[in-house]
Amino acid sequence: MTAWPKSIWGWAAGVFQASDTVQAMVVRQPDLSSRLTFLLGAQECLAMDRFAVTGGRPLQGSVEAASAKNSVLPILAACILTEEPCTIDAVPQLEDVATMLRLLQSMGIRVSSTGRTVTVEASGKPASEAPYDIVRKMRAGYYVLGPLLGRCGRAKVSLPGGCAIGARPVDLHLKGARALGAAIDIEHGYIDARATGMRGATMVLEGTNGPSVGATINTMMAAVLTQGETVIQGAAAEPEVADVAGFLCSMGAVVEGASTPLVRIHGVKKLHGTSYRPVPDRIEVGTLAVAAALTRGQVEITGCRPDHLAAPIEVLRHAGAEVETGPDRLMVKAKDRPRPFNITTAPYPGFPTDLQAQFMTLASLAEGTSTIEENIFEARFMHAMELDRMGARVAVKGSVAVVTGVKRLSAAQVMASDLRASAALVLAGLACEGTTEILRIYHLDRGYEKLEEKLATLGARVERVRK
Ligand code: EPU
Repeated sequence: MTAWPKSIWGWAAGVFQASDTVQAMVVRQPDLSSRLTFLLGAQECLAMDRFAVTGGRPLQGSVEAASAKNSVLPILAACILTEEPCTIDAVPQLEDVATMLRLLQSMGIRVSSTGRTVTVEASGKPASEAPYDIVRKMRAGYYVLGPLLGRCGRAKVSLPGGCAIGARPVDLHLKGARALGAAIDIEHGYIDARATGMRGATMVLEGTNGPSVGATINTMMAAVLTQGETVIQGAAAEPEVADVAGFLCSMGAVVEGASTPLVRIHGVKKLHGTSYRPVPDRIEVGTLAVAAALTRGQVEITGCRPDHLAAPIEVLRHAGAEVETGPDRLMVKAKDRPRPFNITTAPYPGFPTDLQAQFMTLASLAEGTSTIEENIFEARFMHAMELDRMGARVAVKGSVAVVTGVKRLSAAQVMASDLRASAALVLAGLACEGTTEILRIYHLDRGYEKLEEKLATLGARVERVRK
């Protein structure tokens, strides 16, 4: 790791007029080149769309959940596993989805879409390289590794690098591929993997922070066309893992136990085309549920899976919200200031790290002190500083944030550091009087489909200010 001399950093921060949040994010980057790239990226973002959120209104009404981004991305990559066309319905219009489709196209794969229905046809031999230019925009680009290895026996995928929420290593993805017999070199910033005679194997894919969603899915995708039986112990049990397994099975794969810590895959020779609709996005649903509770409104979310949200629903109820659930609908209603609560993020079915930031906004307005412990990603509290700028009282020490609730937040200009942090700031804006301006909302567009329109149907005033 190259140390960045203080004098240079001070100079760069001044020249680029970097805010405290950007400075804090820059110093987390592992080396000088990553720091400069991040800083320049942050400057580009200042010239991007922003949100003006005028809050203080209870949200009312009904909205439909989108499909889960974290299912759709690996499912699109999994289409590489067959030469026949695969049709995916209800694909959300997200920046990350557009990036994944661009990545597939850059590999010579045919992609067409009608509305939210996307067809991917990987006939012929896809190119085996996923370039840095695309993967740096979206970590999920590494999901082409497993399918390329399984189908073509070769994959050259750019290492994605760290991001604002932590280091995000890929050692478990590589462990899975190596266990199947792939030879892997890391060279010039790329994972260069060759499958010479891969065979099913038994492996443990759990790291120090628990199971890995990405490594479980990537290994499953590599194993479905690999001869023999593969057993993944310590597998992630998130609903998106089960959803990708469901998609693979609809192509003729044999995958058992997805959604448990032990996944068993029986390799088959060939997969066929399919049509599939991914599961609803539990994180979008959770975000909208917090919006209802925070603004003391009443919101119904249809087309969702409340059973995927047991832990967050329990916290919402503890915080004083009324939550009604049906098999595919959720209704959240709140009248009073939230009660304080304690959460600890954990792998599914524990409280999801992807809702931690949004619940921090809820805790900011609670009548008392809440604690939030983040156990999945080491740097996922960047939103705390921005919430503080809006009058919240958050003290972060290591992996724990102590949030002392205040009566009201105040509108400010704030900067989003990552996808879920952006959502937390939108929620804060909805809960306070005045207009909050949120910069760098390209993060939101990566993972929430037209959030401003969805919130507007519930009576919120969220304006996209185009640059
Ligand atoms: N980890 C390793 N080695 C690896 C992979 C992961 O040590 O090779 C560690 C991570 O650093 C982390 C923990 O394992 O501490 C869990 O990471 P995981 O691999 O499960 O995360 P991911 O697959 O990279 C997905 C979602 C994230 C979500 C996490 C956890 C996608 C595209 N991303 O990431 O979603 O937070 O699972 O549920 O599916 C988001 O949507 O905002 C988002 C960040």
